[in-house]
Amino acid sequence: MDAHLVEWLNILLRWAHVIVGIGWIGTSFYFVALDMSLRKREGLAPGVMGSAWLVHGGGFYSVEKYASAPANMPPDLQWYKWEAYLTFLTGFALLAVMYYWNAQAYLIDPRVLAMTPATAIGLSLVSLTLGWFVYDAMCKSPLGKQPVLLAAMVFAFLILMTWGFTHIFSGRGAFIHIGMLVGTIMVANVRFIIIPNQKKIVADLIAGRTPDPALGAAGKNRSMHNTFLTLPVILFMISNHYPILHSHPHAWLVAALVIVLGALARWFWVRHEAHDPISRIGWAVPAAAGVLAVAVVMTAPRIDPAMAGMRVADARVLEIVKTHCAACHAAQPTLEGFAEAPKGIKLETLDLIRTHSSAVMSQAVTSQAMPLGGFTDMKDEERRELGAWLLAQRAR
Ligand code: HEC
Repeated sequence: MDAHLVEWLNILLRWAHVIVGIGWIGTSFYFVALDMSLRKREGLAPGVMGSAWLVHGGGFYSVEKYASAPANMPPDLQWYKWEAYLTFLTGFALLAVMYYWNAQAYLIDPRVLAMTPATAIGLSLVSLTLGWFVYDAMCKSPLGKQPVLLAAMVFAFLILMTWGFTHIFSGRGAFIHIGMLVGTIMVANVRFIIIPNQKKIVADLIAGRTPDPALGAAGKNRSMHNTFLTLPVILFMISNHYPILHSHPHAWLVAALVIVLGALARWFWVRHEAHDPISRIGWAVPAAAGVLAVAVVMTAPRIDPAMAGMRVADARVLEIVKTHCAACHAAQPTLEGFAEAPKGIKLETLDLIRTHSSAVMSQAVTSQAMPLGGFTDMKDEERRELGAWLLAQRAR
C-alpha cells in the first residue's frame, strides 16, 4: 500500500487509540474514586451500602452502591467494557500497522537478533498469547489465594518477559511489547474474567440463587492487578520516543523501575483518596522518589571521554549522516515505505544537523536507537565522531 495512506491509517488508529484509552482509564479511575467516596447515610434503601454526592457540569448527582445487587434488575443496566475492548483492538491494529507492516525498521534489530519479519511477527503473537495464559494460570493456581505473593510472581514474570523481549526485538520493539503484553493481560482480565463473572452473578441474582463469592473475589483480584498496571502501561506505550528508557543495556531493569514507580504512585493515590493518614502512607513518596532517582542516574547518557579531544571535519560528518541517516531523513527519502522525512527531521545539511543536535545526540550517539532497526551497520567509531562534532558545535 502507498506509504502515504499507511501514514494516514497510522494517524487515525493512533487518534482512536488515545481517545478510547482515555475513556477506559477515565472510567476505571472514576469508579475507584467513586468507591472511595461512598458513605453510609440515613435513609438509604435496603441493600445499599453507601452513597456519594458528586457535582459536575452544573449539576448534582447522588450515586448509590448496592452491596451485591438490587432486588430487581433494572432493564437498562449500563456496562463498562467497550472502552477496554476498543483500546485493545485499536492498539493491536496500530501494532500491526507500525511494527508488523514495517517489522524490518521498527521491530527487528540485527544487532540484537537477525530474523525475517515473519519470524518476528510470529514471536510477537506467540509471546503475547502465551503471556496471557501463563498469567491466567498463575492467578488460578493455589498462588492466587495469596494476593501479595501472586502480585510478586506476576511482577517477576513481567520482568522475565521484558528481559526476553529485549533479547529478541529492537529496543523500542521490546518496550512496546511489554506495554502490549500488560495491556493484553488487562483487557483479557476484563473480557474473560471480570465481565463473565459479573454476568454469572447477575444471572444468579435474577434466578434467586446466591452467587458464588469466589466469582466476585476473582473479579476484584484481577481489577486490582489492572489498577496497578495502568500507570506503567502508559509509559511503556510512549517509551518509543525516549531511547534513554529502551536503549539501556539493562532495559529490563528500567522497565522494573517503571512498574514499581507506577505501582507506588497508584497505591499512594488510592490510599490518599481513602483518607488514610499521611503518617501511615507517606513513606511511599520518598520511596517513589528513590526509585525515580535510581532510574534517572542509571539512564544518564554516557559521553565517551574520548570524544572530548577529537577533531572531526564537517565533510566527515556529512558523509556519516549521508551513509546512515539520509535514506530516511531527507526531503525525499529514498527508502521504500517512507513518504517523507520521519518526524520532519531532515539531516541533509550541517545547519539541519545542528538544528537537531541534541536529538541526534540522544538517538545516535548516547543511544543506538538510530539508524532505525540497525538499518545500516553504524560503527561505534562513527558514533563517536558524530558525537565529537556535535559537542564541538555546542562549544562554539
Ligand atoms: C530506516 C529509516 C531511518 C534511518 C536510516 C534513520 N532514521 Fe531517524 N527516524 C526514523 C523514524 C521512522 C523516526 C520516527 C520514529 C518514531 O515515530 O518514533 C526517526 C526519528 C528520528 C529522530 C527523532 C526522534 C524523536 O522521537 O523525536 C531523530 C533525532 C533521528 N531519527 C535521527 C537519526 C539519525 C541521526 C540517523 C542516522 C544516524 C537516523 N535517524 C537514521 C527512521 C530512520
